[in-house]
Amino acid sequence: MIILAIETSCDETAISILDCEKDTVNVLAHEINSQIEIHKEFGGVYPNLARREHGINCVPVLDTALNNAKLPSEDFELANETKNELQKMMEREPTLFSLLISFLEKNQKPKIDAVAVTEGPGLEPALWVGITFAKALSLAWNLPIISVNHMKGHIVSALLTPFCHSREGEDPCEINAGVDSRLHGNDKKTEDDRELKILSIEFPAISLLVSGGHTELVKIDSIGNYEVVGRTRDDAVGEAFDKVARILGLPYPGGPEISALAARAEIESGVMPARPRSQELRFKLPRPMIHSGDLDFSFSGIKTAVLYMVQKIPEITEEIKMQIAKEFEDAVIEVLVSKTKTAIETYGAKTLIVGGGVIANKLLRKTLVDSLPHTKVLIPEMKLTTDNATMIGVAGYMEISRSNKGFSTNLRAQGGMQLTKN
Ligand code: KG4
Ligand code: ZN
Repeated sequence: MIILAIETSCDETAISILDCEKDTVNVLAHEINSQIEIHKEFGGVYPNLARREHGINCVPVLDTALNNAKLPSEDFELANETKNELQKMMEREPTLFSLLISFLEKNQKPKIDAVAVTEGPGLEPALWVGITFAKALSLAWNLPIISVNHMKGHIVSALLTPFCHSREGEDPCEINAGVDSRLHGNDKKTEDDRELKILSIEFPAISLLVSGGHTELVKIDSIGNYEVVGRTRDDAVGEAFDKVARILGLPYPGGPEISALAARAEIESGVMPARPRSQELRFKLPRPMIHSGDLDFSFSGIKTAVLYMVQKIPEITEEIKMQIAKEFEDAVIEVLVSKTKTAIETYGAKTLIVGGGVIANKLLRKTLVDSLPHTKVLIPEMKLTTDNATMIGVAGYMEISRSNKGFSTNLRAQGGMQLTKN
């Protein structure tokens, strides 16, 4: 089954083309156009700006994806009637409409079996662009649509050629670097390089989802059967990284900035053994809700604690920034790991699946693996941690082929879409 997958829930316009057969996914194209540089100026993602950019980017990204995928195609003529229907359907997206019409008039119809698209959660104006685009392609090329929950995409990304972290003596991030090249064009790419296997796992599993909009612990009894057993009561963990970064005067997105600073603090305390790390770190932050007895999180207070801390310091030197970043990262990771361990014990989980942009954090990856020696810990390769369409296509394919979910007809953006039990 050939799936064209579209993801526009936040600030990435992503399109993948996947050839899925049983447990094998051949990634024919994996394209991402990131708007980070545009949003950086404002220190965060502006929904209407994201929407405008998706409208401009969808067609060129599709064009590149189709060129890379080299699918067989058939003659295609856009009937006037279809064009009129498309115009009506896309009246709120005039730029996307005119780009799409000239694309459809110039190109043949590629051999695709279905379109998968993110329906939610995410920024509604941004989601609508992807959904409208999917509906338009479905109408023009007569294809069924699979609607996908973005968080299910993050969950399944860890099932794709995951690498086993428990191999002794290997740095997970180094193992990771080895497989990273498979999805993106480089000279060494071969046909085989693009083949991913969907791993079978032992249930029940727990998933820790950590992104810019979510911090959740999810109990999974089978693929498609999800129960949220813990969630943040306020800010998501990625959001906390982004806000703390802003307080420290670092650019958006803050996660990679904070973790790079924290890593420098670690290295510099390491090269000065005369000063033990405990003395080196003058700043102490709370570990919010670590002893709350449930599986919920809260990251708003720790961000405020950083703000108050910074306000009291007359001059924020690079050294101080490093130490605050380190203490913040340590505090957050301690809480995430502690709650995840409790969830695994409570539900007797055999497998931990981690997903979402924050799992790009190398220390979090390593700490989870080291703290859970008896659990199979599955973490996506770096390229699949942040938003992409391959995870959306695979999540859609798995639901269509393994659970009783059918194709969708009445799609609408659902900013607050939840994971549910089937
Ligand atoms: O999943 P994602 O790409 O988008 C959402 O669906 O939200 O996650 C983006 C989030 C941002 O908040 C970003 O700061 C965070 O992931 N992030 C990180 C790291 N890389 C990205 N957080 C901590 N450490 C990192 N290395
Ligand atoms: Zn995401």
